[in-house]
Amino acid sequence: MTTLTIRRPDDWHLHLRDGDVLEGVLPHTSRNFARAIIMPNLVPPVVTTAQAAAYRDRILKALPKGDDFTPLMTLYLTETTDPADVEAGFRDGLITAVKLYPAGATTNSQSGVRDLAKVHSVLEKMAEIGLPLCVHGEVTDPAIDIFDREAVFLETVLAPLRERLPGLRVVLEHVTTENGVDYVKAQDKNVGATITTHHLMINRNAILAGGIRPHYYCLPVAKREKHRLALRAAATSGDARFFLGTDSAPHIDPLKETACGCAGIFTSINTMACLAEVFEQENALDKLEAFASLNGPAFYGLPANEATLTLTRQDEPVVFPRKVAVGQDEVTVFDPMIPIHWNVGS
Ligand code: DOR
Ligand code: ZN
Repeated sequence: MTTLTIRRPDDWHLHLRDGDVLEGVLPHTSRNFARAIIMPNLVPPVVTTAQAAAYRDRILKALPKGDDFTPLMTLYLTETTDPADVEAGFRDGLITAVKLYPAGATTNSQSGVRDLAKVHSVLEKMAEIGLPLCVHGEVTDPAIDIFDREAVFLETVLAPLRERLPGLRVVLEHVTTENGVDYVKAQDKNVGATITTHHLMINRNAILAGGIRPHYYCLPVAKREKHRLALRAAATSGDARFFLGTDSAPHIDPLKETACGCAGIFTSINTMACLAEVFEQENALDKLEAFASLNGPAFYGLPANEATLTLTRQDEPVVFPRKVAVGQDEVTVFDPMIPIHWNVGS
């Protein structure tokens, strides 16, 4: 196959940041994607519908003229989130999901949730109105090995939460383990999972073998090879519970290339080309549309996009920019470590 035309994809998990970074990175999403779930972990976080409305306006202002892109806004769940504000935002069509960050789990998660009991009334309201909860599925207990934090979260946090509130729609964000894939497969239609491009392409060796490579460090951290293979099987299976959420998470180079670097991999530029390569390797190009363009909208109860995106295969590897300028700084682009042969058209 040399060309592949699919419905225009959506990104169900994206960090756009604000200010110069927003301006620098947004065009690389809006060029190819019709919609994206926008993560709320700004500094300070987006915790009220009024803040989400203002953030949406800043995104729309930064959008290149002519690009057709809809930001789907989320609220950052805190122990003082007001269920009435959440409901009002949902009913107005402003809020598409609420994000649960366990406090301390990742970048700008200090205001996240320490005690789930304190957010129970919000979660109950969400279950009642059908508003999905996007979950950063890692425990934060320093005694738990970082490579086990997702698996432990499933057992000790998500399973009990689902038992208490089976009607709550939950997206297990950026699933990184076979345990996560198996967990999602065993649930009913109220649970879905996003998978990132980079977790389909790298395992933990990329970060640590032969030298420490900060641009492959993200959270949840990439796991061992068997987990990457489980993610590839899930993504390319066509199973409607798995869909694309790039978790493209730009940090300027000085914040990555330092003694204590930030977590996050910037993939929005080459995500669709990388995915085509992955799906081709798995002999599953016919499943790319389900993963990137159909399963996500179906989970969120939204129509699939009418417009299309065409990918064209070429024999010579495609050259992507190594870095993107944002203000005075640069953000390094994800290097997939294999040649990519797919060009993304319109
Ligand atoms: O790698 C990550 N980067 N994981 C997250 O959960 C947050 C994100 C960020 O905001 O940089
Ligand atoms: Zn994220």
